[in-house]
Amino acid sequence: MERPIDTLNIKDQAFDQKLRPAQFADFAGQPKVLERLELAVEAARQRGDVLDHVLLSGPPGLGKTTLANILANEMGSQIRITSGPVIDKAGDLAGLLTSLERGDILFIDEIHRMQKTVEEYLYSAMEDFVLDIMIDQGPNARSVRLEIPRFTLVGATTRRGLISAPLRSRFGLNNRLDYYDTGTLVKIVQRSAKLLDVAIADDGADEIARRARGTPRIANNLLRRVRDYAQVRADNRIDRSVADRALEMLEIDKHGLDDMDKRILETIMRKFGGGPVGLSNIAVSVGEEPDTIEEVYEPYLIQEGYMARTPKGRVVTPLCYTRFGISPGSLQQDELAL
Ligand SMILES: Nc1ncnc2c1ncn2[C@@H]1O[C@H](COP(=O)(O)OP(=O)(O)OP(=O)(O)O)[C@@H](O)[C@H]1O
Ligand SMILES: [Mg+2]
Repeated sequence: MERPIDTLNIKDQAFDQKLRPAQFADFAGQPKVLERLELAVEAARQRGDVLDHVLLSGPPGLGKTTLANILANEMGSQIRITSGPVIDKAGDLAGLLTSLERGDILFIDEIHRMQKTVEEYLYSAMEDFVLDIMIDQGPNARSVRLEIPRFTLVGATTRRGLISAPLRSRFGLNNRLDYYDTGTLVKIVQRSAKLLDVAIADDGADEIARRARGTPRIANNLLRRVRDYAQVRADNRIDRSVADRALEMLEIDKHGLDDMDKRILETIMRKFGGGPVGLSNIAVSVGEEPDTIEEVYEPYLIQEGYMARTPKGRVVTPLCYTRFGISPGSLQQDELAL
């Protein structure tokens, strides 16, 4: 998926790692999700039990991988990390599961991209902690039941709608992460600045937070770019005007919209007269999958009040026209005819 500020290179990954909260106490925002997870961890620990399986869903960069690691830390368990597309045979899954110890966390990222055949083996593993594996072929073929240690599966997905019902129902804890408000992002930027030893004024943190598309990963990445700018051009100190100049130079949108966000909104305004228009028409026009638009882009645009879902299709709001400096009437005549 194209997402310029979001794409991580190796240096960014190290940076990401450094800023990643390791405990519940350092994880900002998402109060409902945190409360549920903290309670489940506490209860499991009191009983000396294994934590229930956890599904974490939500757009990229909101903290799914971070929470998986926090769960392992808080449970005092080991974490094994893999991802849906990597496990391509049932045998890979069997290898992984039999190597676990009691209470370990198995983190499967992008769990919606797991093969159907592999997924089916996971059902009995999650529910009864057994795997029924076929060995040999032809007349000697037989099924062998392997016991596996009680473990916790933590699954992460950006595409909740693509998780099958049988898989989803096997997660005891099902949590959806939402975009962060500016106030929470300000705290995240301030914490990151401290870890990076960068001086930042409150208004500087606020400017970065506002332009981070509700996403901690983007906030941290913007901070990093602004830090470079401040180091070279502003005496190592970040305030609103330094942040603004740095982000302006990088052509980071004032309101935190990325390229695809803008294309979606402009398509609705310019090609479809502001809507209502069906999701599939938008998808074809912007060259992105409908599911991705629905689960990755739209939630932010709806939350920020740029567009809405109606029974007849998607519509943009007056706010959207104002932000883009477009007057609805002018488009109806000039561009709709095209
Ligand atoms: N609640 C939070 N508080 C502080 N920092 C956060 C929080 N959530 C995320 N971050 C920061 O944002 C970065 C990205 O988060 P993370 O990698 O967990 O996102 P993700 O949901 O797994 O994204 P993806 O879908 O792309 O895998 C983390 O390295 C961390 O530094
Ligand atoms: Mg992740």
